[in-house]
Amino acid sequence: MRCLVTGVAGFIGSHLAEALLAQGHSVIGVDCFTDYYAREYKERNIIKLREKKGFQLIEADLLNLNLAALLKQIDWVFHLAAQAGVRASWGTSFEIYTHNNILATQKLLEASKEADLKGFIYASSSSVYGDTKQFPTPERSYLQPLSPYGVTKLAGEHLCYLYYKNFGVPTVALRYFTVYGPRQRPDMAFHRFLKAALMGGEIEIYGDGQQSRDFTYISDIVTAHLLAMEQFYPGEVFNIGGGSQTVLKTALDLLPQITGKEVKITYKPVQKGDVRHTAADITKAQRMLGYQPRVKLPEGLEAEWQWIKEIYK
Ligand code: NAD
Ligand code: UGA
Repeated sequence: MRCLVTGVAGFIGSHLAEALLAQGHSVIGVDCFTDYYAREYKERNIIKLREKKGFQLIEADLLNLNLAALLKQIDWVFHLAAQAGVRASWGTSFEIYTHNNILATQKLLEASKEADLKGFIYASSSSVYGDTKQFPTPERSYLQPLSPYGVTKLAGEHLCYLYYKNFGVPTVALRYFTVYGPRQRPDMAFHRFLKAALMGGEIEIYGDGQQSRDFTYISDIVTAHLLAMEQFYPGEVFNIGGGSQTVLKTALDLLPQITGKEVKITYKPVQKGDVRHTAADITKAQRMLGYQPRVKLPEGLEAEWQWIKEIYK
C-alpha cells in the first residue's frame, strides 16, 4: 500500500513510517520542520528513513502543498502533523495551533474527498477529555478540553468525523495517551527528567507530582495503527493507552534504579492547561482492533534512557 505520513520527522511519525516500510508498504512523508523544537532532533529521527527504499520525504507545510495531486498516489493517510505541546498553547501561540492542527487538517480532509483512500487515520489525543471525572475514561465520555491545544485536537477529530459523514472520507481517530520512548519530544516529562539525570541538572515538577498519566510506549502506539489498518472501522474513535495509570512521582521513583543517579527535584506551580489525571479505557480497542499494550513503564523508560545517553553523549 502507498502511505502518506504527515509529521514524519516527529517523534511518533518517524517510528510509524519505519514500521509501515517494514511491513512492505511505501511511504511518502511530509514535514515542514516547525521550530517548536530544534530541527536537529527531527533530522536524527529520520536518518535511517532517508536511506530506506520506498521512502520519500517532502519538506513542506501541509497548507502550502498541492494535496489533491499528492493524494492521487496514496491509499492510506496517517495524519500526525501538529503543534503538539499542551502547556505552550496559550496566548499568541494559539495561532500556530489553529494553523497546524485545525486548518491543515481541514485542508487535508478537503483534498481527501476527491481521493480514493482506503483509510485516513488521525492522531488524536487524551487532551480531548480535559479534567474528566470518569476513570478509566471511555470514548463516549463528555469531551471538554482544558488546554487550547486540546481544543484544536478535538476540532481536528470533529472535522474527521464530519468529512466521513458528509463525503465518505474513511476516517478513524486514535486518541493516544502520553507517549514515551526513544525520540520522545524534548519538551516532554521523561525526556527532560532523563536528560537531567544524565547532565546533572534539576528536575522540575509542575504541581505536587501526584498527577497521573496513562503513559503509552511508542511501539504500542505504532502497533495500534497497524491493527487499525487491518480492522478498519470508518467513523470510529479509539482510546490507545498504555494499560496502566501511573502517578508522576511513582514514575520518578523508578529513575535512580534505571539511571544509577539521584536527581534534585524542584517543585513549580501547576501549569495552566495540564489535566490532573488520565487513564484510558481501552476495552473498545481491545475488542474491535485486538489492541493490547505490551510494554510496561520500567522497560520503556530503560529504552528511553539508552536513547537519551546516545543522543546527548
Ligand atoms: P512532534 O512535534 O514530534 O511531531 C509533529 C511533526 O509535525 C513535527 O515534526 C512538525 O514539524 C510537523 N508539522 C507540524 N505542523 C506541520 C504542517 N503544517 N505541515 C507539515 N508538518 C507539520 O509530535 P509527536 O509527539 O510525534 O506527535 C505526533 C502527533 O500525535 C500529533 O498530532 C500530536 O498531537 C499527537 N499526540 C501526541 C502525543 C504524545 O504523547 N507525543 C499524545 C497524543 C497525541
Ligand atoms: C502529552 C503530549 O505532550 C501531548 O502532545 C499529548 O497530546 C498528550 O500527552 C496526550 O496524552 O494527549 P503530557 O501528558 O503533558 O502531554 O505529557 P508530558 O509532557 O510527558 O507531561 C506529563 C506530566 O508531567 C504532566 O503532568 C506535566 O505537567 C508534568 N511535567 C512535564 C513536569 O512535572 N515537569 C516537566 O518538566 C514536564
